[in-house]
Amino acid sequence: QPLRTVFSGIQPTGIPHLGNYLGALKPWVQLQNESNPRDRLLFSIVDLHAITVKQDPLLLRQWRREMFATFLAIGLDPNRSILFAQSEVPQHAEMMWLLSCFASMGYLSRMTQWKSKMSLPDNASPFDLSPESSKKKDTPALKLGLFSYPVLQAADILLYRTTHVPVGEDQAQHLEFTRELAQVFNSAYKTTIMQTPQTMLSPAKRIMSLTDPRKKMSKSDSKPQSRIMITDTKEEIQTKISKAVTDSIPGVSYDPQLRPGVSNLIEILYHLSPGNCPSPDQMANELLGTDTSPKELKGLVADAIDKELAPVRERMNEVMSKSEADIGKLLVPGIDKARGIAMPHIMKMKQEMGL
Ligand code: ADP
Ligand code: NA
Repeated sequence: QPLRTVFSGIQPTGIPHLGNYLGALKPWVQLQNESNPRDRLLFSIVDLHAITVKQDPLLLRQWRREMFATFLAIGLDPNRSILFAQSEVPQHAEMMWLLSCFASMGYLSRMTQWKSKMSLPDNASPFDLSPESSKKKDTPALKLGLFSYPVLQAADILLYRTTHVPVGEDQAQHLEFTRELAQVFNSAYKTTIMQTPQTMLSPAKRIMSLTDPRKKMSKSDSKPQSRIMITDTKEEIQTKISKAVTDSIPGVSYDPQLRPGVSNLIEILYHLSPGNCPSPDQMANELLGTDTSPKELKGLVADAIDKELAPVRERMNEVMSKSEADIGKLLVPGIDKARGIAMPHIMKMKQEMGL
């Protein structure tokens, strides 16, 4: 039995940006590198989640490849972590069906993801939406897959009897739903086979946009200058950071309300500096002590980002230059290991259910 089982996933939606890297991916690498050999770590490219919204097949295939290259480039090690694409392990979909029979429609209706993906208000009901056949343009049809996305997410986690799930704060609601489903199943069959997972919140919760520091850095922002991509060159990093929105207050201080731009830069620097400062606040005080100007701060931030990303960039190019078949070979061990854990657990569940 593993000491801890960690599961987390990321959608294949293109090259990750610095927010994804600091908020999601880097913590996985840290977890892996600090883990006990008896811990079990699974990191998945959740492509079945990606298809809950329309995807171009060629692009999706490319993005999957890029995300796998990213996994290897940032330092996830296939010998220490189980790396795989969700669609390669059919038990995710099977588990989802089993759990669907316990998932409350009312609970799912109250969740926010399907509403935000469809730009609907918080009080939207799944029953008010027009069917595909009604040809009404104003209310698009709500697809079952998008609506039941949290059930698939619960399946991802419960499939491996996960004990710890590293997530961003935006996912905390889904974890609560997962825990509830595990308990509902256990009490329905008077069993303990479903493991209730606990949340591990990322230390870098919200890296903000460089062009509008009141918004999160996001791939859906129309301005490419708003985000650093993990494959950006040194020059691109320097240009984007030098143009990052700050303010006209002299010096440097940490105050996310009053000085969101400067505070975001301090925050980035803080997350890239290996543990010699206990908080961004304290880091700012130390910088202030040396009379740093926002311009000097930008220099420090650009250097720190480049130092962190240079090796990532290099390894990314290395992996991406491999053939499709060679990349496929690298993925096989992870798929086999994931299936090997998932299969017996599904068997036990089905046994409990009389299947
Ligand atoms: P995006 O917001 O760019 O669409 P996703 O929603 O695909 O990114 O998020 C992928 C992962 O990266 C999630 O774990 C999410 O919490 C994390 N993440 C995304 N944006 C940021 C950000 N600006 N700061 C910190 N973490 C982020
Ligand atoms: Na998002």
